[in-house]
Amino acid sequence: MLRRMVVMMNASASTVVEADLDYICSALAPELAQMAGKNLLITGGAGFLGYYLVLTIVHNNRSAPTDEKINVSVFDNYIRGLPEWLQALKNEPHINIVRHDVTDQLPKDMKDYQYIIHAASIASPIYYRRYPIETMDANVNGLRHLLEYGRSQGESDKAIEGFLFYSTSEIYGDPEPENIPTPETYRGSVSCTGPRACYDESKRYGETLCVNFATAYGVPVRMARPFNNYGPGLKITDRRVLPDFARNIFADEDIALLSDGSPTRTFCYIADAIVGYYKILVRGRSGEPYNIGAEKPEVSVGELAEKCVKVGRDLFGYTGKVVRKQSDDEEYLVDNPNRRCPVIAKARQELDYNPSIDIDDGLRRTMLWYAENRIAEEA
Ligand SMILES: NC(=O)c1ccc[n+]([C@@H]2O[C@H](COP(=O)([O-])OP(=O)(O)OC[C@H]3O[C@@H](n4cnc5c(N)ncnc54)[C@H](O)[C@@H]3O)[C@@H](O)[C@H]2O)c1
Repeated sequence: MLRRMVVMMNASASTVVEADLDYICSALAPELAQMAGKNLLITGGAGFLGYYLVLTIVHNNRSAPTDEKINVSVFDNYIRGLPEWLQALKNEPHINIVRHDVTDQLPKDMKDYQYIIHAASIASPIYYRRYPIETMDANVNGLRHLLEYGRSQGESDKAIEGFLFYSTSEIYGDPEPENIPTPETYRGSVSCTGPRACYDESKRYGETLCVNFATAYGVPVRMARPFNNYGPGLKITDRRVLPDFARNIFADEDIALLSDGSPTRTFCYIADAIVGYYKILVRGRSGEPYNIGAEKPEVSVGELAEKCVKVGRDLFGYTGKVVRKQSDDEEYLVDNPNRRCPVIAKARQELDYNPSIDIDDGLRRTMLWYAENRIAEEA
C-alpha cells in the first residue's frame, strides 16, 4: 500500500509550498513593498499560521534587493512544540527567533518594530481546553503588553504602522440561521462559561482592548477573524478536523467522523488566508475587525470527509471509507457551532481581498504536504 502511495504522488510538499509562496507574494506585492526595509514582529510564529506568515517574508527576502529586505522577529514559547521548519531557519539572514512567552514582560532589548502580528494563542479546541488559563492570558495579558509597547512608541519616527491581532470567527459563537452568512456587524451568540469560553471570550475582550487602544491612544491595531483555515503547516497531530482525516488516510485506516457529520463550514486554504492577513496588517483601518475566509462552498464535515477519501484515492490509492465513531472526550462537541460561513464583502472592498483557491485544489495541495509530513510532535 505504502509503495503504491509513493508511486502515485505527482508533486512534492516543497513544490506545493513554493507555488503557494509565489502566489502569496504576487498577491501581496504592494503590501510587501510598503514593508520593505522595516521590522516585523510575529508572536506565535511557530504555529500553523506562523508557518506561512514567516515563510512569506523569507521567500520575499530571497529575491528582494538588500535595502528592501524585511527584518522579521519570531517570538514563541513553544507550548505547542518547536517545529523543524523553524529550527531550519536559524541561520537565515533577516530573521531572529526568540523563545519568549508573551504573557511575560517584553524583552528589554525590544527593537523598534513598525509592524506587529499577535498570533500567539492556542487555536486547536482540544489543546486550548487543555491550557485554558494560558490561552486567556496570551489573548489578554500578552496582547496588553504589545498594545502598551505600541502606545509607548507614540507618533514619533519610531511609531508602529500596523498591528494585527488574531481574533477568531468563534467570537460569533453559534449564530442564529438569520445571521448566517455572518458579517462583522453581528454581535454573537456565545457562552461565557462553556468549555470553549476561555478561547471565545478572551478573543472578544482582546478585540475590545484593541478598539480602545486605537481610539484612546491612536495605536494602529486591527483585528482578523479567521474562518477555518487549513493547509500546509497545520501539523498532523493538531487534532483539528483536517489533520485528523489526514492521519487516518496515512495510517491507512477508515476516516473516523466524531460527530454526525452535519455541522457545516466554509474552509479557506492557507495561501488565500495569509494574503488577507497581511492586507489587514498593512491596509486595514484601525480598530476595525475583518472576516477572512471563503464565502463558499459551505460543506458539512461529512462531505469534507468524503472529499478527503476521494483526494486520498486519486493521489495515493487510498482504499478507506468514512465511518462514524464516538469521541472519548465528552465535551468534544459542546458549543460546537452548527454552521459557520462568513460575509467577506468588507475585506473585498477595503483591502482588495480576493480568495481564489477552491476546496478541491486546496485539499489536494494539503494532502500532498501531509504525505511528507506524517510525523509531528504531540503538542
Ligand atoms: N488557524 C485558524 O483557522 C484560526 C482560526 C481562528 C483564529 N485563529 C487565531 O490565529 C492565531 C494563530 O493560530 P494558529 O492556528 O497558528 O495556532 P497554533 O496553535 O497552531 O499556534 C499558536 C502558536 O502560539 C504559541 N503560543 C501560545 N501561547 C503563547 C505564549 N503565551 N507566548 C508565546 N507563544 C505562545 C504556540 O506555541 C504556537 O506556536 C491564534 O491567535 C488563533 O487563535 C486561527
